[in-house]
Amino acid sequence: MRISLLTLGVTALPGVVAWGGFGHITVAYLASNFVSNETTAFFQGLLRNDTEHYLAGVATWADSLRYTRWGRFTGPFHFIDAKDSPPTYCGIDYERDCKKEGCVVSALHNYTTRLLDTELHVSERAMAAKFVVHFVGDIHQPLHTEDVARGGNGIHVLFDGRNFNLHHVWDTSIPEKLVGGIHRKPYEAAKRWADVLTTEINEGKFLSAKDEWLKATNVSDPRSTALSWATESNAVVCTTVLPQGPDAIVGQELGSKYYEAAAPVVEAQIAKAGYRLAAWMDLIVSSLRNQPSPGDL
Ligand SMILES: *[C@@H]1O[C@H](CO)[C@@H](O)[C@H](O)[C@H]1NC(C)=O
Ligand SMILES: *[C@@H]1O[C@H](CO)[C@@H](O)[C@H](O)[C@H]1NC(C)=O
Ligand SMILES: *[C@@H]1O[C@H](CO)[C@@H](O)[C@H](O)[C@H]1NC(C)=O
Ligand SMILES: *[C@@H]1O[C@H](CO)[C@@H](O)[C@H](O)[C@H]1NC(C)=O
Repeated sequence: MRISLLTLGVTALPGVVAWGGFGHITVAYLASNFVSNETTAFFQGLLRNDTEHYLAGVATWADSLRYTRWGRFTGPFHFIDAKDSPPTYCGIDYERDCKKEGCVVSALHNYTTRLLDTELHVSERAMAAKFVVHFVGDIHQPLHTEDVARGGNGIHVLFDGRNFNLHHVWDTSIPEKLVGGIHRKPYEAAKRWADVLTTEINEGKFLSAKDEWLKATNVSDPRSTALSWATESNAVVCTTVLPQGPDAIVGQELGSKYYEAAAPVVEAQIAKAGYRLAAWMDLIVSSLRNQPSPGDL
């Protein structure tokens, strides 16, 4: 984790960074595999990068921004702290759980709207694009939709004999173990994993689920869409993250039996995030195309 962050040039407090850089980059490569050619051209233009890395290269930008003085206001945008009670009760109540400073649901709403706003300066819209890429990743990390112990940051556990907090285990330890380690090359490992997941979605174990994944997607209603994604992630807290509640997990070794149950869920959440991000980007581009005033994209 620390090594991959240094490689990415990201200053981060251990355990506070979402999905780890590796998860976010995977989501971005996955989305780039699914978007239409028109969408690729639009976002490559907006982000001024015509390589296949145009999304992957901006996927962790929001994590570096939040620890800067200017970007501090974006800190709350990475999560929504559901005040639920796992494992007996999971659920998100927008009014109850989205702080007045904002949350990942309001942020996805805001930055989707800004991306669609042709009156805004392109630099603002490019920034909005980077936020959307990142927050669609975050919202699929179950512990970004959970209040308990600051999203699990305060729960100390073991993973393969080493001390971590639970948040880090879900952000980083499980995804990296799943692919057999990223060997200090997060972009290459992420590209490979994204290609594996692309095949699983197109013709493998996710083929039958992928249409269901897009059911709640409505670009005219970004808040409801984001809320449904968040609610689904939050449900995983009760089933898989804390199936016996927060106390039962403290100090436990999570690298074997727990990992076996969690890894397929992490894989599915990453796959969903990338597939949904692609659909979201396609919808943004077609909705811009269909705007009454022909303004430049
Ligand atoms: C999209 O672009 C790819 C790569 O440039 C090309 O191979 C493919 O034919 C294009 N697809 C469509 C539908 O134009
Ligand atoms: C595109 O993004 C990648 C990844 O961040 C970067 O390595 C590359 O230099 C960029 N290319 C251009 C033309 O900006
Ligand atoms: C929307 O984004 C802009 C630009 O980052 C920010 O100034 C504003 O506070 C955001 N609004 C909300 C409600 O998150
Ligand atoms: C999408 O959202 C808009 C705005 O809230 C709503 O009018 C429309 O019915 C929604 N579409 C679907 C298919 O739910």
